[in-house]
Amino acid sequence: MKVISSINDLRDQLRGQNRTSFVPTMGNLHEGHLSLMRLARQHGDPVVASIFVNRLQFGPNEDFDKYPRTFEADIEKLQKENVYILFAPTEREMYPQSQEYRVHPSHDLGDILEGEFRTGFFTGVCTVVMKLMSCVQPRVAVFGKKDYQQLMIVRAMCEQFALPTEVIAAETVRDIDGLALSSRNRYLQPAERAEAPMLAAALARVRERVLSGNRNFEMLQHEAMVSLSTAGWKPDYVAIRKRSNLLAPAAHELDAPLVVLAAAKLGATRLIDNLEI
Ligand code: PAJ
Repeated sequence: MKVISSINDLRDQLRGQNRTSFVPTMGNLHEGHLSLMRLARQHGDPVVASIFVNRLQFGPNEDFDKYPRTFEADIEKLQKENVYILFAPTEREMYPQSQEYRVHPSHDLGDILEGEFRTGFFTGVCTVVMKLMSCVQPRVAVFGKKDYQQLMIVRAMCEQFALPTEVIAAETVRDIDGLALSSRNRYLQPAERAEAPMLAAALARVRERVLSGNRNFEMLQHEAMVSLSTAGWKPDYVAIRKRSNLLAPAAHELDAPLVVLAAAKLGATRLIDNLEI
């Protein structure tokens, strides 16, 4: 595997490639990330991964400085997955001047759910993904359903800008107790880690009740929020939405393909998860 930190070197290495498959990450790699590398390998060659902790997508009170950085261990994992290039730019390489040109997602998709609770987050994500794609020029890029709204926003961005990149979705990888793998799980204290599968369990309960015919979505959302609060969580939202655009289904759309999404704080750690219904 070649580890490259300069955009020019990356372009030299990739010159003439037109089947490149790309997996952007912020590092601290776990099985979820590695499953994306495997999916990428099925859809193109060479596989390029990136590791870049993108300051633009962190709010002023978020965890940019303490975001886990485990570069040496990450390199070993990527080597085992036969990744051809790891692009790991420094901050100065990605943002040599303050990044004044930014990509803003549509309000409809960008300002709801995560966008409502993390102002500017998706603008930060879109800006760095656009810039990384401009460096890598991949034919396909793989994103995880774990970050469902991010996946949809990046896909819409590629379509609206006619980028030659197809966005491929990877299923969420979970621990055996149901907790979705996430770099942020390592912030959990042992007692919190034991509580953490409750979020996925609450989503599974909503899904079961919808599948068994319950169409009172307001009540199902409310009950899930209450059960999390009662157990000591601070839920931001539990929302049953249409998969097509993440809006709440209208009365005549209750049988459309749906997804239930949630975000909640457990102690100091904010977790998100979702389940297609
Ligand atoms: P990061 O959180 O490192 O995630 C990188 C990719 O891994 C994303 O596409 C994410 O959805 C996927 N992923 C994370 N946990 C997963 C799991 N348990 N199962 C399957 N896929 C999982 O998302 C980002 O970084 C950044 O916002 C980024 C897109 C790199 C832009 O900075």
